Amino acid sequence: MEFNEEKTIDETRQGEAIVLPSPSPLERGRGEAKKLFLESYGCAMNFSDSEIVASILVGQGYSTTTDETEADLILINTCAIRENAETRVRQRLTEFKKRKKENPSIIVGVMGCMAERLKAKFLEEEKIVDIVVGPDAYRDLPKLIETVEGGQKAVNVLLSREETYADISPVRLGSNGVTAFISIMRGCDNMCAFCVVPFTRGRERSRDPQSIVEEAKDLFARGYREVTLLGQNVDSYLYAGGGLKKEITEEQKKTATTFANLLEMVALVSPELRVRFSTSNPQDMTDDVLYAIAKHENICNYIHLPVQAGSTSMLTRMNRGYTREKYLDRIAAIKRIIPDCGISTDIISGFCGETEEEHQATLSLMQEVRNDFAYMFAYSERPKTFAEKNMKDDVPENIKLKRLQEVIDLQLKHSAEKVKAGVGKVHKVLVEQFSKKSQEMLSGRNSQNTVVVFPKGNFKKGDFVNVLATKCTGGTLIGEAV
Ligand code: 5AD
Ligand code: SF4
Repeated sequence: MEFNEEKTIDETRQGEAIVLPSPSPLERGRGEAKKLFLESYGCAMNFSDSEIVASILVGQGYSTTTDETEADLILINTCAIRENAETRVRQRLTEFKKRKKENPSIIVGVMGCMAERLKAKFLEEEKIVDIVVGPDAYRDLPKLIETVEGGQKAVNVLLSREETYADISPVRLGSNGVTAFISIMRGCDNMCAFCVVPFTRGRERSRDPQSIVEEAKDLFARGYREVTLLGQNVDSYLYAGGGLKKEITEEQKKTATTFANLLEMVALVSPELRVRFSTSNPQDMTDDVLYAIAKHENICNYIHLPVQAGSTSMLTRMNRGYTREKYLDRIAAIKRIIPDCGISTDIISGFCGETEEEHQATLSLMQEVRNDFAYMFAYSERPKTFAEKNMKDDVPENIKLKRLQEVIDLQLKHSAEKVKAGVGKVHKVLVEQFSKKSQEMLSGRNSQNTVVVFPKGNFKKGDFVNVLATKCTGGTLIGEAV
């Protein structure tokens, strides 16, 4: 899948696959390199992990391929966030079975969150699988492959207290050469009642800020003009020499690097390097972060701040750690400190015990905030979570879907209004690629993360261009360079 104006990496949250294209011949190993086919499902973090895995295996002499029929090693990076993400992975494994029938020496490995969730059970359930490897065990892949080559199956799903892959320089596969992800932390300590992530990605730990800055500098030197700092909860980033966040002492906290500090450090790499980040959390987002965004022109005015639900009663059942009022206070702070900030959110419909009144509260919250964009989901019960163990998934499927549709309809209206408000204004756009519809048009995003398309003129990928928006579609601004 290409990243284009209709689909961003974020939308792969819905479970769509990304196949990583082959690297340039220069990046390929010499001679008869074994071929790796790597397919990624789920969030940006998974995509970023795949780049780390590619780096580890290219270091072992593998070259990557987008043609699964020529693969010696098939790896599928899986997502467990909702049941349908797992269903899709199972379907793909059935297809890989055919490959293996044709050529029994092919090795099939599953990595990522579903691998971590199912562990060795995966080997029993899906006979075709040779390797099961969890998100903290990717350094072990060469050994796991060796085990399989020796005739055995191989599993490593150990979660780590320290692993951040800080020293591994990701192979930028499937890249437009302009925008890249940098993983800044791993795991999550929040324990939202619905979420499987703390079980599949382990406890929260932050990556050494120096290694993050070095990665950003290296990307800039190679022509990249935008980095997105990734974490499950970036506002919680805290580096005090490594290890688990929960073990950082009060004394260490006084001199530790916070997310606001980190943002500024990355912003100072170059004024020509845009900085984005994802995901924020209303519980942890401080004004310091907002002031850092306001202070540096190159930190984009865009915040993805998942709310999940609109009533305090529901937020309490979800164990989100904030109330409706606290969330609205954070929105007010954003609007006060960064007046032209784009804001997006995540919403879940039909979580345990959701009443019609609580659903209406979600709609009224949306009306109040008027997000630019939202990712919206029907609740899907996940094994091991607090909700699965202690609550009843009692909203009938048809009601879940009806409420979700109401949420989606309202959001579409807000998104259209927001895009329309950009018409008649000048936007600073970083050119990422040709427009999907025409090689005569370029496509990029403004600071607020809205896609802007305009005639290419003499501009090229990686340029910053001021574009006057003259019209729009539901989600895209269309204009001309000024
Ligand atoms: N069911 C539905 N949506 C979920 N999310 C997380 N867990 C679940 C679940 N069990 C959504 C949340 C989160 C996004 C990444 O996925 O909205 O912010
Ligand atoms: Fe899941 Fe909540 Fe952590 Fe996000 S913050 S990954 S929703 S537990």
